[in-house]
Amino acid sequence: MTDLLDRLARRLGPRGFTADRDAMAPWLVDWRGRMRGRAAALVSPADRDEVAFVVAAAAAAGVPVVPQGGNTSMVAGATADDPDALILSLRRMNAVRRVSPEDNMLVAEAGTILHDVHVAAEAAGRRFPLSLAAKGSATVGGLVSTNAGGTQVLRFGPMRALVLGIEAVLPDGGLFEGLSALRKDNRGYDLRQLLAGAEGTLGVITAAALRLVPAAGSRTVAWVGLATAQDALVLLRQLEGATGDAIESFEIVPADALELVLRHIPGTRAPLARGHRWHVLIEAVAPKGAPPVPLDEAILATGLAEDAVIATSEAQADALWRLRESISEAERIDGMAAKHDIAVPVSAMPGFMAEARAAVEARFAGVRVIAFGHLGDGNVHFNVRAPAGADDRAWFAQQGAVVSAFVHDLVTAAGGTLSAEHGIGRLKRAEFARLADPARLAAMRAIKNALDPGGIMNPGVLVPLAEAPSLS
Ligand code: MLT
Ligand code: ZN
Repeated sequence: MTDLLDRLARRLGPRGFTADRDAMAPWLVDWRGRMRGRAAALVSPADRDEVAFVVAAAAAAGVPVVPQGGNTSMVAGATADDPDALILSLRRMNAVRRVSPEDNMLVAEAGTILHDVHVAAEAAGRRFPLSLAAKGSATVGGLVSTNAGGTQVLRFGPMRALVLGIEAVLPDGGLFEGLSALRKDNRGYDLRQLLAGAEGTLGVITAAALRLVPAAGSRTVAWVGLATAQDALVLLRQLEGATGDAIESFEIVPADALELVLRHIPGTRAPLARGHRWHVLIEAVAPKGAPPVPLDEAILATGLAEDAVIATSEAQADALWRLRESISEAERIDGMAAKHDIAVPVSAMPGFMAEARAAVEARFAGVRVIAFGHLGDGNVHFNVRAPAGADDRAWFAQQGAVVSAFVHDLVTAAGGTLSAEHGIGRLKRAEFARLADPARLAAMRAIKNALDPGGIMNPGVLVPLAEAPSLS
């Protein structure tokens, strides 16, 4: 081990290598503060050749490699947990290598922050249509590796739909050069799509070619108060009918989530004059040169809104989005929660939210459920908080896993998934193993064992414990 660390220190220099406990400490805790990990060193390569050097050296020594971008995983997907592990930070690789408006594409290195991708696309008269609350720190490599979702999936799909090409270092140190960004390429297995969503278990993504779309014209942002979640879904379908495919975001916020934000996030204020049981945040985007989407008329025509406000300035639109995007942060400030990133068919979501909430509250006396998020995608964050007055830590130590298993059973019975956009990481791996069908698990293990026979890439994440590869 000492040999390996010496070699890495020599090759990467002081900017690219540290084994200092204090320097490593921030990168050993996950965003939610649920896991404190362990590692031998933090390496920060400057380019793909250095990444390849690190991975090849680690493979030869049988040492685990944990790729890390912005460290914003909700499921501890980038937290090293082995005293010998190397945290491989992509932060220094943050160049936008190329923007090609003619190809509607840009190539960004893995450590590029999402916000910088937005800026680069805009400078070229285009737009990268994926956004999420962590856009100031989440990086391209992590977004691709987790097939991130966010608030525009409704119109443009998740990261997988936006990745045209990938460059990655595979577990043996070999370089996969898949950045050609061909729109059509029918040479069999799609390695890009295998690496996207693999959570760093099949290699280290070093750069990605991302799909751009035409620059937006005006955006219209509305906040609507509603009586029921079912009304929200009816509203969405009616608005789609009235506005074509202009609706890009349709986010549901229950009264209790809004209340948490108003209580904990400085500078926020209630968007509507009185309270409503449900709210939706809607964003519609018109093409450049076209008139703004008449969202106000369309909402009024449905007769479903109890009240609504349309942002009349960019600052107001940002303030409405801040209410939605701060829910996670407000929850975190307020206390612990068992978080569930679930999806069911869109049509089933309003019923599921009501029934699952009733079932959870009946089974665990006093708990508080907050379910919010991407209704238009059939994906909500179904979070369960401890009973008021309980000691959070003690309560979750005793009940957290039972609560999560209960929620995951409900979602599985409804034909849904226990991970819609956050991935599996370390936190959901046991539940994934418990609930996934055997054929899916067997195929995933076979792929993992074939590409990473030494099991060095992000061990403990995503793929439930690999069975020993067959030697026959
Ligand atoms: C969101 O939709 O706000 C994010 O996915 C974060 C979360 O689930 O808390
Ligand atoms: Zn989300």
